[in-house]
Amino acid sequence: MRTIAFYNLKGGVGKTAAAVNVAWHAARWKHRTVLWDLDPQGAAGFYLDVEGTKSYHAGNLVSGRQGTPRLKVDTRWPYLQAIPSDLSLRNLDVKLAEQGSPRSLLRKMVAPLGEDCDLCILDCPPTLSPVAESIFGAADYLFVPVVPTHLSLRALEQVRDWLDQKGKSAPELVPFFNMVDRRRLLHVEMLVRRPEAMRNGLKTWIPYSTHVEQMGQFQAPIAEFAPHTPSARAFRALWFEIAERTGLQQ
Ligand SMILES: Nc1ncnc2c1ncn2[C@@H]1O[C@H](COP(=O)(O)OP(=O)(O)OP(=O)(O)O)[C@@H](O)[C@H]1O
Ligand SMILES: [Mg+2]
Repeated sequence: MRTIAFYNLKGGVGKTAAAVNVAWHAARWKHRTVLWDLDPQGAAGFYLDVEGTKSYHAGNLVSGRQGTPRLKVDTRWPYLQAIPSDLSLRNLDVKLAEQGSPRSLLRKMVAPLGEDCDLCILDCPPTLSPVAESIFGAADYLFVPVVPTHLSLRALEQVRDWLDQKGKSAPELVPFFNMVDRRRLLHVEMLVRRPEAMRNGLKTWIPYSTHVEQMGQFQAPIAEFAPHTPSARAFRALWFEIAERTGLQQ
């Protein structure tokens, strides 16, 4: 099983939107996919319409009293399962810290999902706390949505520095641009002359689009309700590039 995370220490940059759309495409290609909503805000579960279908305690998960495979629920799409968020995840930091070694804990929790899944996608909260540390320990790849602004690039460099300190065991950091508005000079400049911070990034970029906002209205990925639009095409391209990068068969 591959484990990929949509992560950024910055909030509101499109982690959840990308995680949900990519998960849907992976499932369409019949990869048995599970999307774990690690954010107590629960947006991914809301988009997939599985909100509140399972409750658990972060403390029990961390201590091993509750196993992750039993937390999976089916979505209305074949091959796509989810682990909905639970409000107790807001204490995940504390629970991980109590256990002393946050780095390996999430990896241990994710591992049993591999028995019947090909791809685990983690939708992460915006943080550099012990939760982030455990995500870095669990994920093979970190896909980082970046809005083309200088502050976002700075946040990306901060993540990179943090990972560099972790040495060889760190996941591969793969940024991509999101919310690109080609009417804005800075956005166009950054697309044309890729900033150094975007090294090892994806070619695909996601345009700014009201369809992303409409995911909340339809509680579905964009390809379901607006399939022939630039944003739907962009998320499909994002999936293809991610599949290629991670070695998933198409
Ligand atoms: N490409 C886009 N075009 C337009 N709006 C977008 C785009 N990507 C995300 N958004 C909007 O920006 C907001 C934040 O997106 P999203 O929830 O995916 O970000 P996030 O990084 O997961 O946020 P958080 O840090 O709160 O978890 C949402 O309202 C979403 O609809
Ligand atoms: Mg989110």
